[in-house]
Amino acid sequence: MLVKPAVATIVHQDVLKFLKAQPSESVDLIVTDPAYSGMNQHLLLGQGRIVGKYQEKGEGTWFEEFHDTPENYSQFLSECKRVLKQDRHLFLMFDSFSLLSLGAMVRDFFNVKNVVTWDKVNIGMGHYFRRQTEFILFASKGKRPVTRRDIPDIWKIKRLHRAAYPTQKPVELFEAMIASSKAQDSTEFMVCDPFVGSGSSAVAALRQRACFIGCDISEKAVSLSRHRIDVFLQSGIDIGQEKPAFDETLQKKFW
Ligand SMILES: C[S@@+](CC[C@H](N)C(=O)[O-])C[C@H]1O[C@@H](n2cnc3c(N)ncnc32)[C@H](O)[C@@H]1O
Repeated sequence: MLVKPAVATIVHQDVLKFLKAQPSESVDLIVTDPAYSGMNQHLLLGQGRIVGKYQEKGEGTWFEEFHDTPENYSQFLSECKRVLKQDRHLFLMFDSFSLLSLGAMVRDFFNVKNVVTWDKVNIGMGHYFRRQTEFILFASKGKRPVTRRDIPDIWKIKRLHRAAYPTQKPVELFEAMIASSKAQDSTEFMVCDPFVGSGSSAVAALRQRACFIGCDISEKAVSLSRHRIDVFLQSGIDIGQEKPAFDETLQKKFW
């Protein structure tokens, strides 16, 4: 049997416009890490938080945030549900604040199965207890088991230091999501991330022999992620993450 090579497409577009342009039931898995505005409002840092070294003179923000009003968030979830095939999964990332405010809405659209805790191993910023975790809400449209029955709901994967893009997530985090949903031998599997950022989810899809489609509203994110994917496809080298974020001593790898 001829196996088609995996491909990745990144579109420069707003999330809702992008999702509305996708055919119904066209993707096998959604993995995404939205730029929530709620947490920044909570922390009174204003719109478009600038983090540490990512601050650039003369430029207000590195990237825009998705205005996560209940109306926008409902539209986003409703479009995710439409584009996802029946009996497929969704992995949706949250910080603790957005999980409390928006997480419950996911139940109106999907069967919420669990909340996975991403343990970043090293502590980060935070006033009242420094943050070491983020959350990944795991849900399905219809019925679909995960690929293995021995996967824990705490994933220990080191956070990235000095990444090229703010809020860049380790490729291994997305690989864990994809490998939990995609049968290893499936040859046609489309992963979608409509907040693609640096392209970690796209590299993860390619590593897991899946195709990828995604978008981002930021031109910087689109050119960075397209270049990262091109180099990866040509050479197998991930210029966006030189060192692995997974340490075999932390946890047994399940993907
Ligand atoms: C938290 S970051 C994603 C980081 C990504 N997971 C990674 O590993 O690099 C969120 C991304 O959403 C993008 N974004 C913000 N508002 C958007 C919108 N309305 N439509 C599409 N993308 C948007 C930002 O430009 C940013 O790149």
